[in-house]
Amino acid sequence: MDTTNAAQAAAPLTLALVVASDREGRFAPVVADWFRTRVAERADFELTVVDLAEVSLPTTLSHDPGPEVRAELARVTPVLEAADAYVVLTPEYNHSFPASLKNLVDRHYTEWRAKPVGFVSYGGISGGIRAVEQLRQVYAEMHAVTVRDGVVLPNVHGQFEDGLLKDPTGPEAGAKLMLDQLAWWGRALKDAKAVRPYAV
Ligand SMILES: Cc1cc2nc3c(=O)[nH]c(=O)nc-3n(C[C@H](O)[C@H](O)[C@H](O)COP(=O)(O)O)c2cc1C
Repeated sequence: MDTTNAAQAAAPLTLALVVASDREGRFAPVVADWFRTRVAERADFELTVVDLAEVSLPTTLSHDPGPEVRAELARVTPVLEAADAYVVLTPEYNHSFPASLKNLVDRHYTEWRAKPVGFVSYGGISGGIRAVEQLRQVYAEMHAVTVRDGVVLPNVHGQFEDGLLKDPTGPEAGAKLMLDQLAWWGRALKDAKAVRPYAV
């Protein structure tokens, strides 16, 4: 490996965190802050964030969306495009994921392609696992690769105190496994695409 390639291999990957809940009074920021700290502890990722509470996109899809929607997409799409990997942080609503997230997914296609996706899920009794299993199907359609491990936080409201997890052992282990898998896939796919663009 020459020095240029070695420097590129060592450069951090860009990880986009998608915060799915846009619900008023949402719990999402507590989980997102905890997860952001996990990423900040590592040198292999630079984090960007798409927080859907700060994005205003109508659910009506249109070929000619008009200036307001175009302006909003101009804030979001480049962040998704620039990412080498994604973490989707999602609650579970009625055994599925929020409409805000589906709207974001449906408004993009090439941005997700040939990139890995991991999940941090939370909710009531299920911890969001049903939402995540459905998202795996959705992301397969996007030509994305979902990683096996992730963070699952059941009964999430009771798990935190003053913004900290009362028992961080399991979630921290899940976050580490997921981030290690995202780093492997993210690097492997980035290198592969540099040689052979994904065009299938
Ligand atoms: C409309 C709605 C439906 C929900 N359905 C489920 C569910 O099916 N399974 C579950 O575990 N939790 C469910 N919950 C609980 C949420 O996952 C929990 O309130 C979580 O904090 C929501 O995330 P948010 O506060 O960031 O929006 C539901 C909450 C709402 C508001």
